[in-house]
Amino acid sequence: MKIKQNSQILVTGGLGYIGSHTVAELIATGYQVVIFDNLTNSHLGVLENLETISGQRPQLVIGDVTSSSEIDQVFQDYEIDAVIHFAGLKSVSESLAQPLKYFENNVTGTINLLKAMAANNVYRHIFSSSATVYGAHNEVPFKEEMSRGATNPYGRSKLMVEDILKDLSNDPNWEIIALRYFNPVGAHPSSLLGEEPKGIPNNLMPYLVQTASGRLKELQVFGNDYDTKDGTGVRDYIHVVDLAKAHVAVLSYMIKKPVNFEVFNVGTGHGISVLEMIDCFEKTNNIKVPFKIVERRPGDVGEAFADVAKIKDLVGWNATHSLEDMCKDAWNWEQKNK
Ligand code: NAD
Ligand code: UD1
Repeated sequence: MKIKQNSQILVTGGLGYIGSHTVAELIATGYQVVIFDNLTNSHLGVLENLETISGQRPQLVIGDVTSSSEIDQVFQDYEIDAVIHFAGLKSVSESLAQPLKYFENNVTGTINLLKAMAANNVYRHIFSSSATVYGAHNEVPFKEEMSRGATNPYGRSKLMVEDILKDLSNDPNWEIIALRYFNPVGAHPSSLLGEEPKGIPNNLMPYLVQTASGRLKELQVFGNDYDTKDGTGVRDYIHVVDLAKAHVAVLSYMIKKPVNFEVFNVGTGHGISVLEMIDCFEKTNNIKVPFKIVERRPGDVGEAFADVAKIKDLVGWNATHSLEDMCKDAWNWEQKNK
């Protein structure tokens, strides 16, 4: 199969944080994009901003992947060659409180999408998986072939979808890539796209920027007694623009070379501690971030970072943005949008 000249990429969840950055990169590369989003964690202003960045307005269908008819209709209305599937819910704490909501949205929604794809002879699928599937018992750096596990319903929904995709790939028509994202942070350099967490953020970077801007009083550092370089948690932070470019890279990889089913880590391969992140943020942006050390957060692992050899070797993609870029762009976004 070849992508036709007038072919389009369907991006579910394309108004969200990672999806919107990916749409910008797809358009910049010359793809036509159709966004499908139910606006549950995004808003229409993102479409305007994408138009400002890209000079063209992507098609938008407002709909929900949990509705078979709504997702099926998109394939009737547009000529789709590949799907990048971001639509999903992502809060670990909400998934513990409302597991069925997570399984319905993330698993049933994906099954509906896959059924609609097969019914319309569309077989190229790129799925947003997560480093969370490495569970709590693997040694860093995490490699794609390691055992998997889940400690909460959100993580289990990602494991379940990975398994469904693997089983589906027994049918050789399918070309499926699951990307295991590490910790996406930062924002578009234009400050027109970024992360907009609802309420008080759970993740480090949004909490840090909101503390720096005075919206929150003090950053809590969850534990300094891990077996890590300085005792605080270590993660593999990746600039969201690098992550977006990884999607374009694997899309072009699967267009050039037949893929049946592949899993790739998407990170930088470098572990950064919470204290290193605070220090880099303060130096890059010349601003103080009040913080205090508190108890570990239940469910956290000490260290999580990727082995990125596979995506580098096979796809030729690697991250190019520095930690300073992540801190600078996250701070500019906060200042322009708080
Ligand atoms: P996001 O919430 O910003 O974007 C998700 C988008 O999907 C939103 O625009 C939302 O309105 C839409 N959506 C949700 N449910 C939908 C449904 N049923 N039908 C149609 N649209 C729906 O999240 P994000 O950070 O951009 O994450 C995108 C994907 O990447 C998710 O699947 C998430 O689980 C996965 N992921 C995210 C991270 C992260 O740290 N952000 C890490 C690993 C994996
Ligand atoms: C969290 C999710 C994970 C998800 C990932 C990316 C949990 C338990 N895990 O992981 O499922 O895939 O985000 O979205 O929620 N930290 C602080 N203070 C804070 C916030 C975080 O010290 O206020 C520390 C954490 O202990 C950790 C690091 O910062 O060491 C990164 O935390 P976070 O941004 O929440 O990401 P993950 O823990 O990797």
